[in-house]
Amino acid sequence: MLDPVLARIDADLPQAIQRLLALLRIPSISTDRIHAPDCEAAADWLVQDLTDMGFRAEKHPTTGRPMVVGTAGEGRRHLLFYGHYDVQPVDPLALWDRPPFLPEVQDTAEGKVIRGRGAADDKGQLMTFVEACRAWIAVHHKLPGRITMFFEGEEESGSPSLIPFMEAHKDLLRADLALICDTDLFDRDTPAVTTMLRGLLGEEVIITGPRMDLHSGMYGGAAMNPARVLARIISALHDENGRVTVPDFYDGVEELSPELRAQWDGLGFDQTSFLRDVGLSIPAGESGRGVLESIWARPTCEVNGLSSGYAGEGFKTVLPSKAMAKISFRLVGQQVPHRIREAFRAMVRSMVPPDCQVEFKEHGASPASVMATNDPAFEMARQALSDEWPRAAAFTGSGGSIPVAGYFKTILGMDSMLIGFGNDDDLIHSPNEKYDVRSFHKGMRSWARILAALA
Ligand code: BES
Ligand code: ZN
Repeated sequence: MLDPVLARIDADLPQAIQRLLALLRIPSISTDRIHAPDCEAAADWLVQDLTDMGFRAEKHPTTGRPMVVGTAGEGRRHLLFYGHYDVQPVDPLALWDRPPFLPEVQDTAEGKVIRGRGAADDKGQLMTFVEACRAWIAVHHKLPGRITMFFEGEEESGSPSLIPFMEAHKDLLRADLALICDTDLFDRDTPAVTTMLRGLLGEEVIITGPRMDLHSGMYGGAAMNPARVLARIISALHDENGRVTVPDFYDGVEELSPELRAQWDGLGFDQTSFLRDVGLSIPAGESGRGVLESIWARPTCEVNGLSSGYAGEGFKTVLPSKAMAKISFRLVGQQVPHRIREAFRAMVRSMVPPDCQVEFKEHGASPASVMATNDPAFEMARQALSDEWPRAAAFTGSGGSIPVAGYFKTILGMDSMLIGFGNDDDLIHSPNEKYDVRSFHKGMRSWARILAALA
């Protein structure tokens, strides 16, 4: 059953690349309203592609970007596949070597890559699964089991429509297991099943001092500067050991079990080269903890954006009226997002002088999730991946967040399995994003093997 499908994937690779390039040419940036029609176009493209393959597929409008759901095949086990067709904004545009939505295949020292926004996150990954199904249908005239495709267009902007959509379409979406392709390999040769995802809490803080921007000579010394207030707050968020100081922040954070620690130690992660690749050498997390543990199993607080006063060219002696920071917390274990939000806000309020005002905007809150690795499907998938790649598959954590995995469990009672083929150097969310052709090709072959094993 499997071998002709793998052969078909190999033979069809050039066409599969062309299809991915076509999808990548659609600038489906979800955060920016200007690109709403492009998100519609990407959803239409996917509906058409699924329909051409024999799926019953539909675009479902939401108050934001549309969802795409398609279903085909029959069998005892029903699999739901999730990916997102929206992409991150492209700025800073000047740092791109070519237009982000004019993708191309390039030769690099590490092999051929597909360069363009969304190549790795998540259109290329999403298409690995679609292409595996296409090959299966081409060879066997049907899928190995019942498959529902579920594509979201708001993942990069906090998924505002996701919960209401899932609540309203439980019957359409409920399956035996969800497969999600939006994560990384462990390294170039080692595939991974991601078993833990961090949660995410986003907060925007705006401090207002004087009613308007002031001359810093006329008012400096008289008026409180909101940038100073904000800087003091930000610097108080971590102690000298890199621990987050928000009260009760670590409630629900557990230490790694000795078994998991030993398993991760056995992966041989090279933290020196991980940091060197981004121009750094000193781990900046909690003291006494390794980089892998800090990324996969520890919570964090990071400033993602910061602005106040004059930041243009030259100099301006201004005492700003406002100062703003966007702050995110990655969460692990049983940390409760809304409790941390309240504790954070109380801490910030306590540091704002009576003369200044503080305003908060919320930007999403999702808890960490841990996958049910005792489900036999995990061992089957691990075996299938190990058959395809040079090294045996690892069970890994991930520093990133994919809120849908948690919602599959809480809303649909369904476990998720996260398998992806990205590399650390794919530059997701950055200029010059790429996806290795090898990831794309072996990704399709991996899914074909997993489908053979699971469905
Ligand atoms: N694909 C990423 C998640 C990811 C990143 C997995 C790196 C593995 C390695 C996903 O599209 C993403 O970026 N998610 C956002 C969360 C969202 C709520 C904005 C994230 O993690 O910041
Ligand atoms: Zn993604």
